[in-house]
Amino acid sequence: MHRQVRIGGLLLDVPFFQAALSGYTSYPARRLAKDFGAPLVWAGLILASSAVDRRVLRKRLYAPGDDEHPIGAQILWHEPELAAKAAKALVGLGYDLIDLNFACPAPKVLRRQRGGAMMMYPSKVLEIYKAVRDAVTVPVTIKIRAGLDQTDLARTCFWEIVERVAAEGIDALVIHCRTVLQRYSGKADWAVICQVKGLYPGLTVIGSGDLFDVQTALNNLRSSGADGLAIARGAMGNPWLIRDLRAAFEGRPIPPPPSLQEQGQVILWHLDQVMQIYKPASRAIAYFRKFIVGYTKRHAQRKQALLDLLGAGTMEQLISRIGHWYGLAADRVSRSGGPLPL
Ligand SMILES: Cc1cc2nc3c(=O)[nH]c(=O)nc-3n(C[C@H](O)[C@H](O)[C@H](O)COP(=O)(O)O)c2cc1C
Repeated sequence: MHRQVRIGGLLLDVPFFQAALSGYTSYPARRLAKDFGAPLVWAGLILASSAVDRRVLRKRLYAPGDDEHPIGAQILWHEPELAAKAAKALVGLGYDLIDLNFACPAPKVLRRQRGGAMMMYPSKVLEIYKAVRDAVTVPVTIKIRAGLDQTDLARTCFWEIVERVAAEGIDALVIHCRTVLQRYSGKADWAVICQVKGLYPGLTVIGSGDLFDVQTALNNLRSSGADGLAIARGAMGNPWLIRDLRAAFEGRPIPPPPSLQEQGQVILWHLDQVMQIYKPASRAIAYFRKFIVGYTKRHAQRKQALLDLLGAGTMEQLISRIGHWYGLAADRVSRSGGPLPL
């Protein structure tokens, strides 16, 4: 079962990574993914116009940590020159890979003909890809969806992109198996990966979509012929998915689910990391809410725990409520800093 995946010059010892998730994959979530066994992590997407602005890049949020390598940066843009400059700037900042986002379905992105809208412009996609690839020496990948929508024209454009990047020898193609207009609704259709791998067996394809548990991830990998998996929402508030996937790929038994206390310690560790980056405390609390939603999914009294934790108005309250719901003695709660308790 132990399989590796190569993305250009980078060899991942297990065939998955923590995917880019805007608003989630800042340093704390990436560190968790890394410490739980992800061989590669990605920062959320960044506009090329921001990436070339030194004042923006200087912000702590954008610089990769020394303990995060290998780490990829993802660029959102619609024309080659600035995308290439952005890629250079991000590699200069320390990123080890560059991905180009032609998949984002957010209406404000589509209105500007960026992200998923680019799925209808194969020649432009190729121009941007080639400009970026020629500008940097690190691996360059692209993230696409299974077309803009289900029309014949969108399908044709999808296949043109696949065929042309395959011919260029792209380092990897990441495919979210939904159309752009589907956004995140409906089921991801992994048959599209099967078709791509059938036609282009030499192309490294990373599949994305509905990877929320180990068995589904393994089944999709096997049945589609994908080379690797991009773990996205499934690991947010559930880094144990990454731990378990690594165990499965290393041929080890899946570890038992984390105890309540172990969950609590990881939540406190995560919160502590968030507090160090997002200031003041009210901002950290607001940012952390989405992770609380994820973490409490495992809790036997999910609804009550979730409501209580979301209702915490101060950091002291939030920390002590986490201690309460996760059965942590007061001394464990107060020592929430420190190394990740694995
Ligand atoms: C809140 C949110 C933010 C996302 N941000 C990004 C992003 O910045 N870049 C990207 O390529 N994909 C992004 N995605 C898409 C995911 O990487 C992934 O392809 C998608 O969620 C499907 O996988 P899943 O169903 O396993 O979550 C985002 C998805 C969500 C829900």
